[in-house]
Amino acid sequence: SGEVTMNTRSGKRVIVDHRRTAIRRHSGAIKGYLCVDIDLTIRKKQEQYSHRSQRLESIGTLASGIAHDLNNVLTPILMGANLLSSDRAPTNPQPLLNTMVASAQRGAALIQKLLSFAGGVRGDQAPVRISQIIRETRGLLEHTLLKSVEIQTKVAENGSVVLGDSTELVQILMNLSINACDAMPDGGVLTIEAESIVLNGNASQIHPHAEPGAYLLLSVSDTGMGMSHEVLDRIFTPFYTTKEIGKGTGLGLATVQGIVKSYGGFITVYSEVGRGSKFSIYLPAAPDLEAFASSASTTTIESGRGYCILLVDDEEAILSMSGSVLEAAGYRVLMASDGMSAISKYREYHHQVSAVLLDMMMPGLSGLQTMDALFEINPQIKIISCSGLRTVKRETEVMERGAAAFLSKPYTDSQLLETLTQTLTTHPR
Ligand SMILES: Nc1ncnc2c1ncn2[C@@H]1O[C@H](COP(=O)(O)OP(=O)(O)OP(=O)(O)O)[C@@H](O)[C@H]1O
Ligand SMILES: [Mg+2]
Repeated sequence: SGEVTMNTRSGKRVIVDHRRTAIRRHSGAIKGYLCVDIDLTIRKKQEQYSHRSQRLESIGTLASGIAHDLNNVLTPILMGANLLSSDRAPTNPQPLLNTMVASAQRGAALIQKLLSFAGGVRGDQAPVRISQIIRETRGLLEHTLLKSVEIQTKVAENGSVVLGDSTELVQILMNLSINACDAMPDGGVLTIEAESIVLNGNASQIHPHAEPGAYLLLSVSDTGMGMSHEVLDRIFTPFYTTKEIGKGTGLGLATVQGIVKSYGGFITVYSEVGRGSKFSIYLPAAPDLEAFASSASTTTIESGRGYCILLVDDEEAILSMSGSVLEAAGYRVLMASDGMSAISKYREYHHQVSAVLLDMMMPGLSGLQTMDALFEINPQIKIISCSGLRTVKRETEVMERGAAAFLSKPYTDSQLLETLTQTLTTHPR
């Protein structure tokens, strides 16, 4: 007896509750079996559905939280801009401008956090020395943790490097460490370790998604209360928490998982009730630091020297801002607010245009379609694609189609100019 999946005669897959009773002759010998299968398919579907609506509910909570924070971030910018353009503008606008910039940066950080929670999104990648990340985390922890928790750090090779974003890497270690400390209210030992390892053909035994190769293994272990199987099964679910209301949001591990996934890595957890837990993060090792050192060197920004750039974006504000930044740097600027007009502008001016800055998310003709059409006019065209949603998949897609660079929104004036300089000074593909 029990739940089994089987196929009906018509080939439909059903989940049934299967019960079987033996039918005996008078002598006691078994004559046959009576089988009763109760179709559970619909009930299972309903369960799934209610699971999904719970998730939708949590997304709703999240969205209203974010909306509230974003409004708080936008208000000072809006007020500041209005004040600056009025006749009440202060004679020294610098403090006001600083507040506005800080506010906008906070908004960008907020969205980055949301995106890394959603998973599959990638921050700026650069070679990061892991010993540095651990030192930074330790520094932060020493200020926040209970005195009764002893912190041990072990880095196997000081040179270990991973390709990533240092803020995200610190965030991973902080989220895991804080969980570890919450699990040790009466004190204990928190251990953070890093080592380089190579997984061979048996990689998938460690984790179903693991590919063989070189990894950086980061682990955070504690000597705390541990987790039961029921808890372990759910820890990565967003908003799942066993902590009191107001103490935990249940987003810590979901965020860690989102970041780790976006790096092409994976997580394993080992835990014993009453003895402690160990979280192991496997991140693909950076190929070769030397190779990255040269490409990661900061480009000096050259002036536009009269180069002509075609800006394509459906957001009026972005067009005019980016346009002003480029003109101030000595570029000439053409603008288009959708794919169609970008194509006709390019057709008309392609002898003058040196590069196109193309928004990937526009109504009407999409960024990708516009890109294909531009390549048809000139296969050598240099296109910088921009998007507010930077995912590994999206970036790979546009780079494979031949884009010269990818610029993620929101970008600063110097990021814009740096990317342009880089693009214009490299040889055509
Ligand atoms: N090291 C650990 N030891 C014991 N339980 C843990 C440990 N790490 C995580 N957990 C369990 O997993 C749950 C989810 O962890 P997660 O970090 O996602 O959320 P949280 O810590 O409850 O809240 P938040 O991190 O958002 O403040 C925790 O509530 C806890 O029950
Ligand atoms: Mg947590």
